[in-house]
Amino acid sequence: MTAETETILVTGAAGQIGSELVPALRTIFGQEKVIATDLVQPKTQNLRLGPFEQLDVTQGSQLEAIIRKYRIKKIYHLAAILSASGEKNPQKAWEVNMNGLFNVLEAARQLDVKQVFCPSSIAVFGPLTPRVNTPQDTILSPTTMYGVTKVAGEHLGDYYVKKFNLDVRGCRFPGIISHEALPGGGTTDYAVAIFYEAVIYKRYNCFLRPETRLPMMYMPDCLKSIINLMEADFSRLKHHSNFNVTAMSFSAAELAAEIKKHLPDFEINYQPDFRQAIADSWPESIDDSSAREEWGWQPDYDLTRMTSDMLRVLQEKKARGNLFYPG
Ligand code: NAD
Ligand code: SER
Repeated sequence: MTAETETILVTGAAGQIGSELVPALRTIFGQEKVIATDLVQPKTQNLRLGPFEQLDVTQGSQLEAIIRKYRIKKIYHLAAILSASGEKNPQKAWEVNMNGLFNVLEAARQLDVKQVFCPSSIAVFGPLTPRVNTPQDTILSPTTMYGVTKVAGEHLGDYYVKKFNLDVRGCRFPGIISHEALPGGGTTDYAVAIFYEAVIYKRYNCFLRPETRLPMMYMPDCLKSIINLMEADFSRLKHHSNFNVTAMSFSAAELAAEIKKHLPDFEINYQPDFRQAIADSWPESIDDSSAREEWGWQPDYDLTRMTSDMLRVLQEKKARGNLFYPG
């Protein structure tokens, strides 16, 4: 006889990562076992193939009611305000990212939830951090409110591990590139928009300078990292809420050149805006050897493979008439 699968809660499920993590978790654990939640109604029908509840993570009582209702045992806490949106409204970024995480950790502690995943970000680093091959354990000096909340969130997660024996895990994600849901207001969003605009308009006006190099990861690797980290043997983990992970690093010009190999007519212009200063404060590349050693992290996609897959999927969607892009 197999043990019954434990019920999983995903917050911020309608976002870029949640829109693909929820279906991936439902494939593994069962459609009814994964409760998708978000402040907003999902744009895709995908999330409605299993349970969906509206949930504002800043409202602790709403969160507790859902944990009790479904007897939740694992939480993937994705609800957040990202870097560029956070600079437009730092107070809201603090409210959602800090109070939301505190509510999740407290509810988990009190209601017998066993495991929490909360992503961190390369935004924890700053101008004082070594920018090339940024080490796992290094200076955290963010210049954005988003980065401030991610540093505090990592420390809060590790505090709950040590103080309350709650199993909290997290990766410092680089920019995530994907073709299902558009990103929700980050600095690395250009690396998704460029693909949509290349396929639709054959041109793109980039909000970062051509030489701006950042670490990135394709969504299949992002999902793999979340699932592998959550399945890793706890006793092997020396870190908990703050694993560096990466898959590739490229500049905006290098990404444009890779796209041009497939679409020779593609043209790019550069018009840097306030996001340039954010990107300039982040690493160019990341050392993720702790993730490789402690839980076997290994990415599958580099720039070449990711670019050809992104273009293939978006061109297929365009040919079927279901490539939706508000830009
Ligand atoms: P996203 O912006 O696409 O989605 C976040 C979701 O949170 C949205 O659907 C939004 O409606 C929801 N949300 C906002 N406020 C809420 C609230 N009060 N209550 C409930 N839901 C609320 O973000 P994402 O890219 O899916 O990111 C998920 C997590 O991964 C975040 O913690 C983010 O910081 C982290 N991360 C993402 C990236 C990336 O490139 N996408 C990189 C590093 C880290
Ligand atoms: N992609 C995210 C952002 O740009 C990094 O955390 O905000």
